[in-house]
Amino acid sequence: MRIAVTGSSGLIGTALTARLRADGHQVVRLVRRPPHASDEIRWDPRAADAGDPALGGIDACVHLAGAGVGDHRWTRSYKAEIRASRVLATRALAAVLATRAATAGDGPKVLIAASAIGWYGDTGGREVTEDSPAGQGFLSRVVADWEAAAAPAAEAGLRVAHLRSGLILGKGGGVLARLLTPARFGALPRFGPGTQVMSWISLADEIAAIRFLLTTGTASGPFNLTAPNAVTNGQLTAALHHALRRPDFPWLRIPEPVLELALGEMSSELLTSARVIPGRLTEAGFEFRHPTISAALKAELG
Ligand SMILES: NC(=O)c1ccc[n+]([C@@H]2O[C@H](COP(=O)([O-])OP(=O)(O)OC[C@H]3O[C@@H](n4cnc5c(N)ncnc54)[C@H](OP(=O)(O)O)[C@@H]3O)[C@@H](O)[C@H]2O)c1
Repeated sequence: MRIAVTGSSGLIGTALTARLRADGHQVVRLVRRPPHASDEIRWDPRAADAGDPALGGIDACVHLAGAGVGDHRWTRSYKAEIRASRVLATRALAAVLATRAATAGDGPKVLIAASAIGWYGDTGGREVTEDSPAGQGFLSRVVADWEAAAAPAAEAGLRVAHLRSGLILGKGGGVLARLLTPARFGALPRFGPGTQVMSWISLADEIAAIRFLLTTGTASGPFNLTAPNAVTNGQLTAALHHALRRPDFPWLRIPEPVLELALGEMSSELLTSARVIPGRLTEAGFEFRHPTISAALKAELG
């Protein structure tokens, strides 16, 4: 297949493009800067027509781009950036793909679009599946609008699958990279109560699930990309210390008010509690290589 990828320089995109190439696919990276290589095409996620990237001959698109949710304090302007970089970019890209599908005989047939378990918000640790409603907070509203923005592609007949990913555990970025430095000193604290449920997935399983959804012709709609065994924040911290052969001090914790003071609204990323079940992925026949946190950390950290 010829597959266009946005956000290809990120945690998922870097691993995914390498893997798709190893699978024998031709990858075209949609980049926001001037292209440096023959496999790159410039796109502008803010332009109403997504900069109309030349997507001729593309079979599928994996759309991962978005401003990092944990990269900056959530000021009013950064919240607007988190939202616009997802909702506007997806709407514009979906429109381009829809036009291509309608006008070109060799138009795209599949859109695999990043989304997040932020859809569910804080459920107090309750189990949720793809049938559960969206939550109420800022991220839930962004995710709901982000998924809805892909509608033009589905209406044009593309198969659209939304990746409701949990915390992706890859040492090259995201939450694990941030936790690793204090954990290496045996000094990673629990966040708030430590009982909040964190739904996670290994980077290898995230990539495997995206490849599975790319090639499973019946897969459309939302898919929870979360391992079947979510853990509490305390369990995650203990497992990480154990994987690094460091002592674990369960009494070491940052109280919720201190986190809120330090991180502002972004602290919700660490305190939200939701047990997200990968119902549709499992039903479709996907098998997790790392169903437990110890297996995932062992694979990632060696
Ligand atoms: N990592 C996680 O735990 C996790 C969990 C749930 C959902 N997700 C979602 O999955 C997607 C990919 O995740 P990731 O961890 O690979 O993210 P990442 O490492 O932050 O990479 C995202 C990529 O998006 C592009 N980008 C950055 N800022 C942008 C902006 N303002 N406007 C448009 N594009 C921008 C960049 O690629 P270019 O410079 O190449 O354009 C960047 O490399 C994101 O949308 C993220 O929200 C991630």
